Amino acid sequence: MDTVTTSDVGPISVDGAVAVVTGGASGIGRVVVEALLDQGATVYVADVEQVALEAAVAELADRGPVVGAVLDVTDEAATAALADRVFSEHGRCNFLFLNAGVTSGGGGLPWQQEPNDWRWCLGVNVVGIGIGVSAFVPRMIESGVPGQVVLTGSKDGGIAPVPTASVYAASKAAVSCFAESLQHNLVAQETQVRASVFYPSGGLMDTGLYTAARNRPAELERTGDGTGRASMTFDQLKERVAQATGKEPPVADLPELGRFAVAGAAQRDFLIAKELGASAELLRRRADAVGQAQLPPPHVMGI
Ligand SMILES: NC(=O)c1ccc[n+]([C@@H]2O[C@H](COP(=O)([O-])OP(=O)(O)OC[C@H]3O[C@@H](n4cnc5c(N)ncnc54)[C@H](O)[C@@H]3O)[C@@H](O)[C@H]2O)c1
Repeated sequence: MDTVTTSDVGPISVDGAVAVVTGGASGIGRVVVEALLDQGATVYVADVEQVALEAAVAELADRGPVVGAVLDVTDEAATAALADRVFSEHGRCNFLFLNAGVTSGGGGLPWQQEPNDWRWCLGVNVVGIGIGVSAFVPRMIESGVPGQVVLTGSKDGGIAPVPTASVYAASKAAVSCFAESLQHNLVAQETQVRASVFYPSGGLMDTGLYTAARNRPAELERTGDGTGRASMTFDQLKERVAQATGKEPPVADLPELGRFAVAGAAQRDFLIAKELGASAELLRRRADAVGQAQLPPPHVMGI
């Protein structure tokens, strides 16, 4: 059953809102953009992949006001320039979805991960979020307008690691940790801005995450023999999960997930996720293990 957390501030209307979505050209970001447009927001779609971005903006133009911005979220100056643009054009940003993310390969043993895997994955998933928050949140606070910052985390790391994705899980654990600190401070400083952490959930997701290396910068390429990079197709992932769990994994309905994320952000829920009952059970088992100085159980992808 889905769990909804209550917020200390009222909802934000999506109709008429100004929104920014990083990594919005494909996958989960794209369905968030679609839901925002369908509900009447003006949306800035920021993405490093120019061809996919241009295609998305062209395809979505008749659904509402959509602006494309080529942006590498690890680029501080370019992110500040995007914030300048949004605030000079609208004077506000009601929804900031910091969603861009990569996985450094979807496999490999922890000691086979290379320094560049860490640099790239944590650079986009963690430093990119920090840069986005620093560029936008002071202006969102200063505008005095209600705003919601949604950090895309993952239950892989946010709840427990999937051990075959060690670097990715570490990056997503950092996202959850930062989201909590951010929210405590936004509340304590009596701002009109609140934070959410979004765990895309509800089944396996057929997105571009498994081909994330398409956007890997040349200077952060792997230098070793490639043993640590076990890239896979979505079908291979499904098969792997089916083998691990003994059942056919459910596949998420992406457009519905986009609407779910936008609804949670508009309600200003801190946690936006499905199947949190199962996550809470896993966390309880982890807490029990920690209390007994034992290794906490891992998260199995797809259940
Ligand atoms: N797919 C899943 O199963 C899953 C599960 C939980 C969380 N997530 C998270 O959801 C988010 C979206 O992933 P997705 O599954 O839709 O993958 P995706 O590859 O389809 O989308 C990611 C988007 O981010 C963009 N991007 C990559 N590097 C960037 C950079 N440096 N600057 C700007 N944009 C960049 C890509 O071009 C792409 O459009 C990620 O943060 C991912 O970690 C995904």
